[in-house]
Amino acid sequence: MTQSFSGKTAVVTGAALGIGRETALLLGARGARVIVSDINEDAGAAAVATIEAAGGTAHFIRCDIGDEAQIQALVEQAVTLGGRLDVMVNNAGIGGKPAPLHEVSNEQWDLIIRIDLTAVFWGQKYATLAMLADGKGGSIVNVASIAGLGAAPTLGPYGPAKAGVIQLSQTGAVEVARAGIRINAVCPGWTDTAIIDNMGPDARTKLLRGIPLGRMGQPAEIAELIAFLASDAASFITGVAYQIDGGIKSV
Ligand SMILES: NC(=O)c1ccc[n+]([C@@H]2O[C@H](COP(=O)([O-])OP(=O)(O)OC[C@H]3O[C@@H](n4cnc5c(N)ncnc54)[C@H](O)[C@@H]3O)[C@@H](O)[C@H]2O)c1
Repeated sequence: MTQSFSGKTAVVTGAALGIGRETALLLGARGARVIVSDINEDAGAAAVATIEAAGGTAHFIRCDIGDEAQIQALVEQAVTLGGRLDVMVNNAGIGGKPAPLHEVSNEQWDLIIRIDLTAVFWGQKYATLAMLADGKGGSIVNVASIAGLGAAPTLGPYGPAKAGVIQLSQTGAVEVARAGIRINAVCPGWTDTAIIDNMGPDARTKLLRGIPLGRMGQPAEIAELIAFLASDAASFITGVAYQIDGGIKSV
């Protein structure tokens, strides 16, 4: 079994920065044609340049995952560029303003649910349809969070959205398993990216106290798990939500 992606086409959403960027770089280094997708065009282009400088093949496609038509077009363009879609990593997501659930406005609820859950549904749906169309299977990895595994106080709609991503992955996996399509979720704990910076100046220090391994995850460490699950090395794994969190048992 191999972790090579030679001859395969992989889409990564939110691939300009953070976990998505490291995933795109790793898939590129392992031979995939990588579709780097994001709303941040400059950082997306930089990720493509980094993959190409390392000898890989990559394209940037602008896609706001909050718009269903853009996700559908992203998958269609990936199929055109690569001949088929082998891997879809639904990674892009946002954290939102910290607040207990009873203080969350409908606008904040709608935004987070749309970006962190509904968009993953669209990404999984159009990737599945593309993979079913040519009958050769594929692998979908959805980026959830440990916040989706239990209580996630003050993270507002983020926990409910990520719990939905886990359910979406498990249900879809059973529905399309016989078509050779695997769907898994990854549940990172606190990882050193811009999402943490956006939680405020004291967030890092507070969060570190609760991590048994005593440090945050690095985006490249999360990328290793995503790439493994996307690869043929994980050929008997589907419908699973993997924790990668430095030992945290709750948020
Ligand atoms: N960092 C953590 O501690 C952590 C923990 C658990 C789960 N996650 C999840 O990991 C994923 C990646 O997060 P990250 O930490 O790398 O964040 P990040 O902010 O570093 O990167 C997110 C990327 O998504 C892009 N993006 C945001 N909104 C978008 C949209 N509407 N359409 C397309 N792209 C969009 C951003 O431009 C950015 O490039 C998210 O789903 C996040 O919820 C992160």
